[in-house]
Amino acid sequence: MFDPASPSASAIRGLTWLVIVLAVAIAAIVEAILVYSLLRFRRTASADSSEPAQVYGSDPIEIAWTAAPGLVVFVLLLIVARTEWEVRAEVPEPAPGDHDLFVRVVGHQWWWEYEYEFYNGQSLRLVTANELHVPASDTEVQRTVHLTLESADVCHSFWVPRLAGKTDLIPGRANHTWFECREPGLYLGQCAEYCGTEHAGMLLRVYVDAPQDFQAWLEHQQQPSAEIAEERTGQDVFMAETCVNCHRLKGTRAEGTFGPDLTHLASRRTLASGIIDNTPDNLRRWLRDPQSIKPGCLMPALGLNNRKVDSLVRYLSTLE
Ligand code: CUA
Repeated sequence: MFDPASPSASAIRGLTWLVIVLAVAIAAIVEAILVYSLLRFRRTASADSSEPAQVYGSDPIEIAWTAAPGLVVFVLLLIVARTEWEVRAEVPEPAPGDHDLFVRVVGHQWWWEYEYEFYNGQSLRLVTANELHVPASDTEVQRTVHLTLESADVCHSFWVPRLAGKTDLIPGRANHTWFECREPGLYLGQCAEYCGTEHAGMLLRVYVDAPQDFQAWLEHQQQPSAEIAEERTGQDVFMAETCVNCHRLKGTRAEGTFGPDLTHLASRRTLASGIIDNTPDNLRRWLRDPQSIKPGCLMPALGLNNRKVDSLVRYLSTLE
């Protein structure tokens, strides 16, 4: 959060530094007066043993120590209100000719679902999971990313510190956040609201892509799952086992929506919401016993034999 890459994150950093500096300055003044008083008025050998003057009620002192903190709080209130104003934005309606991206984010125990709704004023039909791709802005074109945040179960919180402040995902309501970023790259985040056993394993990965890379990614992701003849057996296993109840592979009869969409699983760098790299070995471990990697997660161990696991791994690895 101290290295912001989006206007709202910069506004939050400015406010954070201001509050830190003010608080440190107040603490320093109070401690300095305390230390001075301890030294100046300590008991010395030459002092007489009578009590110092007892002061009960002093209008000037009481007015001073009420007004000073009141003033500090009032100034902070104004600055916080201004930052709130900068950070919150009404969600515009997608319109032809804009360059904005609109994504609906659904928090699940314990992964993220992304439904791409509009880009460049055009409606999209794309659902993906866990790794969010967005276009970078440049000097000519500002490409703002608008996220509508919802939850399928309990409260979660979307927090990618370099891009924006925390925004909660609350069952039964839709929250909004936005960001805009000029530096392509990977931005990491984390669910920031305790949501159960695997809260800490609900990681966020936002890829800010150069506009042409994003366009290519978008077109590719909208394609149905690749159909590769020699991986037919893996696909048969997928369709015959319970995978289809929870997962979707666009263009096949696997239409489950309880778990992440796997249409282009092999194009993701990580598995299990960011906690392990997407390699054939990790995928095999995950299919054999998800609970050993992500204890408490809602994916059961299916008890498949090695042959079935191997063909599933081969098949899923082709889903670029
Ligand atoms: Cu989701 Cu914590």
